Amino acid sequence: MRWLPFLSIFLILVFIGSGVTGSYKESAHGNSTEGVNRSSMSGYSQGNCAHCHEMHASIEGSEPEPAGVGYFALFADNFNTAKTTGTYDQSDNFCFYCHGPSSLQVNGITNYDYSKTFGGANNATVNNIMDAFNQASYHNLYDIWDFANKTFSFFTSGSNPCVACHNPHIAKRNKANPGDPTFTAISLPSDHGNLWGDDSSERMYAYTYAAGYTYQAPYYNSNSSYEPADDTTYDGSNMPDYVTFCTDCHNTSNQVPSQILGNISRPPRTTGYLISIDWDNEKHGKGAADGSVSLKNPYSNVSGNKVVSCLDCHEPHGAPNAVLIRREVNDSLLEDTIPLDGAIATNDNYCPSKPSYSGDKRLGYLCRRCHKDDNAFDNNTLHENRWCIIHHNDSKKCGYSSSEVDDAPYVPQNCDECHQSKQPITCTCCHYHNAQNVHNFTGRTF
Ligand code: HEC
Ligand code: HEC
Ligand code: HEC
Ligand code: HEC
Ligand code: HEC
Ligand code: HEC
Ligand code: HEC
Ligand code: HEC
Repeated sequence: MRWLPFLSIFLILVFIGSGVTGSYKESAHGNSTEGVNRSSMSGYSQGNCAHCHEMHASIEGSEPEPAGVGYFALFADNFNTAKTTGTYDQSDNFCFYCHGPSSLQVNGITNYDYSKTFGGANNATVNNIMDAFNQASYHNLYDIWDFANKTFSFFTSGSNPCVACHNPHIAKRNKANPGDPTFTAISLPSDHGNLWGDDSSERMYAYTYAAGYTYQAPYYNSNSSYEPADDTTYDGSNMPDYVTFCTDCHNTSNQVPSQILGNISRPPRTTGYLISIDWDNEKHGKGAADGSVSLKNPYSNVSGNKVVSCLDCHEPHGAPNAVLIRREVNDSLLEDTIPLDGAIATNDNYCPSKPSYSGDKRLGYLCRRCHKDDNAFDNNTLHENRWCIIHHNDSKKCGYSSSEVDDAPYVPQNCDECHQSKQPITCTCCHYHNAQNVHNFTGRTF
């Protein structure tokens, strides 16, 4: 049935004027001044469909070798399903021909990571989408393709994994209007025909305040402005509801071990599967903190049950840290990278009483962007990324106070649940999505 999409594209291209064209012209690609414009296609106006769809084997005959008679009549293969893991090349994904290091678009396209575009991070580590996926961690495009193909009806085996999250015919230029989500670039996988975030009911404000919770945007510039637009709005009314977006796939029904699969394993997960994300109950989601939480600004400024957005901690495409953890959070770069091996325990052997145990505190580089470490309490830089005060309620053993009451949130005698010698055990033995009842602690630790 390979000719079916080809035929429908052909008919639409011939009889332009259907509903798609209005929203297409307002889209990033259809825009007559910013839209698609392949250098080899000089006869076609900017924004013309033919910059992506070719009706003949070749229009101008320049590279790449046209695959126009293929599934969607695109100028190159849509996605290389033989590539089950990175590193990606430009020929692995149709989008990378323009959104890659050597772009076919006239004058090229610059796309930074989320940390820079919406978080104001100083140093750019990538400036195009392909390079964003070719980092230490990334959304595996084959796994997205496989998952979307099994899950969403619009998505076919010939589809491109990028279109699970972006509809190339309606996506807008959010980067040019970071504080105005009517310019959103994303679509819910389960509602591919519409944009996500353009209606006010599709924003972080609606997910939180309207339901009795609090959203506090991270700082963009310390003490003066907030994500995503370097202005004074901080209540999430100016950004898409990224929780509903990400949990369209990462929820409790698409769960271990049935559907969401990956190429990773971490405690206490089974090899190859991702844990389900239960944002209705996790503490960074709608679940409440126990009350004694010690946060930095701007979080300490606001009251209520606070909800954090997935993109306050994660990148959407890829990151120099493990599991898409942003390189910049709440206005500052992390001190160092957080690797998968070691800092994020790759299996239970890194946790106590196991042979290859090793304590690793590097996950703390992320936590201390928002939570008070010992340095934030005692103003001594020697105590950066030391976490004694919050785990021991500032007891005598931390060396700052003389009181020995109200010790750890643990059964006090269980020192070796957290310590092997004096070193604390790897943070992710206890702090990971949906962590509950870990190491003799009753309740949630994430
Ligand atoms: C899991 C969902 C997801 C997948 C898969 C995905 N993206 Fe994105 N993409 C996002 C989100 C979320 C953003 C940030 C929000 C925004 O820019 O409005 C984004 C932003 C973008 C941007 C704008 C970047 C900027 O300059 O701010 C481009 C371009 C883009 N994606 C292209 C792609 C391409 C090409 C692929 C496939 C190789 C892809 N995306 C795969 C979710 C996704
Ligand atoms: C930025 C490149 C790009 C531009 C410009 C573009 N398309 Fe597409 N189009 C695609 C891709 C990629 C697909 C395949 C979607 C998938 O992977 O499932 C597609 C698929 C389609 C389909 C198949 C059904 C669907 O929506 O998936 C039709 C019909 C279509 N395009 C029509 C058009 C028309 C008409 C225009 C101009 C008004 C246009 N396209 C402009 C990239 C583009
Ligand atoms: C022919 C070149 C070309 C191809 C192929 C192409 N794009 Fe684009 N894309 C553009 C241009 C040009 C822009 C707007 C330029 C800019 O934003 O600076 C754009 C913008 C975008 C945006 C808006 C991002 C933002 O916030 O600014 C998204 C999302 C996007 N593209 C996704 C895709 C996806 C997904 C594919 C593959 C299905 C794709 N593009 C293929 C040229 C292309
Ligand atoms: C279209 C479905 C889909 C959407 C939407 C989606 N994901 Fe994923 N995600 C997957 C799949 C499938 C995997 C497993 C493949 C892999 O390991 O990358 C995954 C893996 C991940 C991983 C683990 C990556 C690693 O290095 O092991 C993280 C973190 C993640 N997603 C975060 C997010 C965030 C944040 C969002 C929202 C911006 C999001 N996801 C949206 C499907 C999705
Ligand atoms: C407070 C920061 C933070 C927020 C907010 C956050 N995450 Fe994470 N995420 C992490 C950390 C730390 C890890 C590594 C520990 C682990 O694997 O759970 C992680 C890991 C993941 C993984 C890989 C999990 C696995 O099975 O190994 C996925 C998928 C993911 N996050 C998705 C999401 C989604 C979806 C959201 C929003 C609903 C979200 N995250 C919000 C910090 C965060
Ligand atoms: C053996 C389990 C365990 C290990 C390992 C562990 N923690 Fe904790 N942590 C806890 C418990 C239990 C709490 C209290 C949770 C509560 O109050 O509900 C906590 C609380 C926290 C909090 C929230 C503090 C607040 O503001 O209330 C942070 C941040 C934190 N830990 C960071 C870390 C870091 C960083 C590491 C690694 C250096 C680490 N933890 C290692 C068990 C652990
Ligand atoms: C982007 C900011 C941000 C980051 C980064 C962050 N947190 Fe949090 N954390 C919060 C907020 C806000 C709350 C309060 C949630 C509420 O009010 O329910 C919280 C609450 C918690 C709690 C609940 C404490 C209690 O008393 O119940 C724990 C445990 C926790 N965080 C652990 C961590 C760990 C471990 C890390 C690092 C892996 C981390 N957090 C990173 C913002 C963050
Ligand atoms: C909830 C987990 C947890 C439990 C249980 C726990 N600790 Fe700790 N402890 C920590 C963390 C985390 C630190 C901070 C270490 C760091 O950041 O260097 C710490 C720090 C310390 C320090 C200071 C070490 C240093 O020089 O930085 C001492 C001493 C200590 N703990 C003793 C104990 C004793 C004795 C027990 C049993 C009565 C105990 N701990 C139980 C988590 C725990």
